[in-house]
Amino acid sequence: MKGLLRLSQQALAASQRAYSSSSTPERKVAILGAAGGIGQPLGLLMKMNPYVSDLALYDIQGTPGVAADISHINSKAKTKGYAGDEQLGEALKGADVIIIPAGVPRKPGMTRDDLFKINASIVKGLVAAAAEHAPGALLNIISNPVNSTVPIAAEVLKQKGTYDPKRLFGVTTLDVVRARTFYAEAKGINVADVEVPVVGGHAGVTILPLFSQATPHKDLSHEEAIALTKRTQEGGTEVVQAKAGKGSATLSMAYAGALFADACLRGLNGEPDVEEFCYVESQVVPELSFFSSRVRLGPNGAEKIFDLGELSEFEQAGLKDLIGELKSSIDKGIEFGRSG
Ligand code: NAD
Ligand code: LMR
Repeated sequence: MKGLLRLSQQALAASQRAYSSSSTPERKVAILGAAGGIGQPLGLLMKMNPYVSDLALYDIQGTPGVAADISHINSKAKTKGYAGDEQLGEALKGADVIIIPAGVPRKPGMTRDDLFKINASIVKGLVAAAAEHAPGALLNIISNPVNSTVPIAAEVLKQKGTYDPKRLFGVTTLDVVRARTFYAEAKGINVADVEVPVVGGHAGVTILPLFSQATPHKDLSHEEAIALTKRTQEGGTEVVQAKAGKGSATLSMAYAGALFADACLRGLNGEPDVEEFCYVESQVVPELSFFSSRVRLGPNGAEKIFDLGELSEFEQAGLKDLIGELKSSIDKGIEFGRSG
């Protein structure tokens, strides 16, 4: 048990650092959609995170059981389940970080955009509640289509008068996690040493891994660069097909969501040089008002958004190709967020 706890903490990187001392501030994390495929393992990982003192698990159903189960783990976070509209405010009250994986996942043959019809309204409602009950919290949006749900969230927050672009994030960490894994496998190197920037958005060609900037640097043939890029872009579909109608990535997403939330908490706690790739309001690509790139996280959320650096010709072409699709997903989200 202790070994498991230790392993998980190592995976989350932060727990072994000096920053997780007794002076670590109290932090509340709320997960909305906590009884789902992502929500349950994500709840488990956040319960094991040493920076979390309160863990609120909210869903429209199922959270009493999930919370009872997770709350028996002998780690610091006080864990409570909340279910239904009437308990949402209490779940959110005092939250520092709100993670939203609520909504339906894809089935084979669907695009992420096919989820818009259902998930757009779910995200809109939950973000409105977050604005009301926890206006200063960092929002981590996992629900797809991320390319649109984040612009929806921004519009809702603007209407509520609480929008701070530094505090709204689309979680694209899973693309980075996949790119690292696929690159390490292809080049026969230790995945623990690998970094791969992934920029753009979170759907198909809008996911742009920058293998030319990967470390440790390994030369890739044009064919290798194409294959690795395609596999990263289609990683979600690979899982959807393998699950054959039983949903999309949940375990790897919970891991990625926990990594990103951990980075948000470390930033809030004042740890220096905390950097992750995430989808934020941005001027990095002038045509796109939201874009995922390297972001430094600090006590106020996104402290600095980094430029893309030097791209290979292949990556420049990929960037040019993604602009149309990403712009139309952003516009669709903005329009929905402003409506009714
Ligand atoms: P799931 O169906 O297993 O779980 C979703 C949960 O959301 C369910 O428990 C459901 O009851 C809950 N829910 C629905 N409406 C709600 C509401 N109004 N308030 C609170 N909870 C509500 O789905 P999943 O596999 O966990 O996936 C969830 C979402 O995450 C999907 O949209 C999926 O596409 C997305 N996703 C994103 C990434 C990413 O990289 N950003 C990766 C994987 C999945
Ligand atoms: C993923 O990348 O795994 C998620 O966005 C889920 C999906 O539908 O592919």
